[in-house]
Amino acid sequence: MRTPIIAGNWKLNKTVDEALGLAKALKEQLNDLKNVEIIVAPPFTALAPLAEALKDSPILLAGQNCYPAEGAYTGEISPTLLRDVGCRAVIIGHSERRHLFAETDEFINQKIKAALAAGLRVIFCIGETLTERNENRTFEVLESQTRNGLSGLDSASMNRLTVAYEPVWAIGTGQTASNEQAQEAHHFIRELLGNLFDSSVAENTRILYGGSVKPENIDGLICQADIDGALVGGASLKAGDFIRIARFK
Ligand code: G3H
Repeated sequence: MRTPIIAGNWKLNKTVDEALGLAKALKEQLNDLKNVEIIVAPPFTALAPLAEALKDSPILLAGQNCYPAEGAYTGEISPTLLRDVGCRAVIIGHSERRHLFAETDEFINQKIKAALAAGLRVIFCIGETLTERNENRTFEVLESQTRNGLSGLDSASMNRLTVAYEPVWAIGTGQTASNEQAQEAHHFIRELLGNLFDSSVAENTRILYGGSVKPENIDGLICQADIDGALVGGASLKAGDFIRIARFK
């Protein structure tokens, strides 16, 4: 039995005051929620205030990114410092990092190892572009991103890793993958985890869907056999929408 996760990636949005207001609404209205893990990933500037605001809440805090080393790396943030400020998890390999900041599978692999070594949980994002899908290369892309991103990890460390399948063409576009398209990709990823690790990793790893998740489509997505939750962007910025998504049916 895999406990679902609903995670909100606030991306580069929300001042500290706005973040506190949203966190307060989520805390008030999601505290009674059972059997669902709620994670929010605000911008770095809001992490410390939110750690304080959410300290009596089951809502977990995540970073949106990290750098796999410490020291003379101006402008970067390490997994250790994310832990120190109250994060329990970090998003790694988001398509905006891959495409806007040229992050490679190898760099993402280093970040995952550093985050796990620092005791963080990892939300590892993968997904194909529209061109790759149109060229029937979706599975090939998912396989190489997964194989390279998780290279060198053992089955035990996969306990603290969640995969997020986010087709790039569905992110921020309003064009969600159909339930069938998403399920097909999730099933492929789960089988791949079985091949790369073992059947227990395949069975126990949560695989989230991301890409224009909204109150209107969450119920159809989450009832698919291999979809264990959602990584929500735009709709996580509105308390009412995110609460409805977290209270999926
Ligand atoms: O991390 C979240 C994804 O990029 C999805 O964003 O829900 O705005 O499409 P979106």
